[in-house]
Amino acid sequence: MQQVKAVIARAKGAPVELVTINVPAPGPGEAVVKIQSCGVCHTDLHYREGGINDEFPFLLGHEAAGIVEAVGPDVTDVAPGDFVVLNWRAVCGSCRACKRGEPQYCFATFNATQKMTLEDGTELSPALGIGAFAEKTLVAAGQCTKVDPEARPAAVGLLGCGVMAGIGAAINTGGATRGRSVAVIGCGGVGVAAIAGAALAGSSPVIAVDIDPKKLERAAAMGATHTVDSSQTDPVEEIKRICAETYDGAEGADIVVEAVGRPETWKQAFYARDLAGTVVLVGVPTPDMTVPEIPLIDVFGRGGALKSSWYGDCLPSRDFPMLVDLYRQGRLDLDAFVSEEIGIGDIEAAFEKMHRGEVLRSVVVL
Ligand code: APR
Ligand code: ZN
Ligand code: ZN
Repeated sequence: MQQVKAVIARAKGAPVELVTINVPAPGPGEAVVKIQSCGVCHTDLHYREGGINDEFPFLLGHEAAGIVEAVGPDVTDVAPGDFVVLNWRAVCGSCRACKRGEPQYCFATFNATQKMTLEDGTELSPALGIGAFAEKTLVAAGQCTKVDPEARPAAVGLLGCGVMAGIGAAINTGGATRGRSVAVIGCGGVGVAAIAGAALAGSSPVIAVDIDPKKLERAAAMGATHTVDSSQTDPVEEIKRICAETYDGAEGADIVVEAVGRPETWKQAFYARDLAGTVVLVGVPTPDMTVPEIPLIDVFGRGGALKSSWYGDCLPSRDFPMLVDLYRQGRLDLDAFVSEEIGIGDIEAAFEKMHRGEVLRSVVVL
């Protein structure tokens, strides 16, 4: 066991606190990771506000990169000294999804078995089973994905959550490729990552939709070929018009990624999609929201697929090293997602900037 500094949310709505926590030595299947960077994500704020569950105190932070410090007795995939990006999809290999060859849908992902605690022994709930606003954290070894050690931690750590969710929504869930059009509704961190993913896959046009012109400027810098301010223009008609310019007879985009998480924008995605196209819902709705009223004949008549994307349907062991390599080759600008590097004491201020939409990501650097 060792003691390290970490940021917790002690009670619903209360500001986060920098405290000392106890990190157990790794047991079987576990690893202790020395954290180098961790992005500030909406989900951390949701935990703090009690929006995920009531298992306070939470150890926040989950978009992290670091160096493996120690591993448990039976761990073979990673070793001390390895540079890793942490993931919240350590697949089990034996559930129904894993057995049928779709581990990205694993129903029984691993987290550390032992608990990190406060100094008085109170057990902590690590955000998404990670808890990386900390000098060190304890995770399941499978949550550590080895990547190119030359990469910048603050940039590649973001693949651990939001950036992977967006890139994966476009490529893994939506099937973005050359010869297909992609529209993305909502250009926050997740939406912009979907745009970068669509551009990386060679899709064209790549249409960014938002109600905030500043977001659209950034989306254009990240690979959008067209931008639509949906507070001024009907996004459905505009997406259809742009796609028809590129592909004769197109009646919308082949893939529409909804990265807001609201019924009205999902409905826009539904109607902005070409016949037999795919809608991908990656924005997270609140429990009170319902599917918008749509004639069933439209669901039938337009064909295609209405999908949801959890964590970009990623398989960390496959996707993280590949995306880090593309970053290192200059083909995926992960640095552009790092709006600022901050200290571990600056997380409340980062929540406010995030809330005001001023940053793609504030990243804690340790
Ligand atoms: N139409 C278009 N864009 C909208 C609309 C709307 N009606 N309402 C909001 N937006 C835009 C905002 O202007 C912002 O650019 O959606 C974007 C949302 O971005 P963020 O709040 O930064 O959220 P982000 O981190 O990108 O996550 C998006 O995915 O993971 C989930 O919980 C997350 O539901 C959220 C979604
Ligand atoms: Zn499984
Ligand atoms: Zn996240």
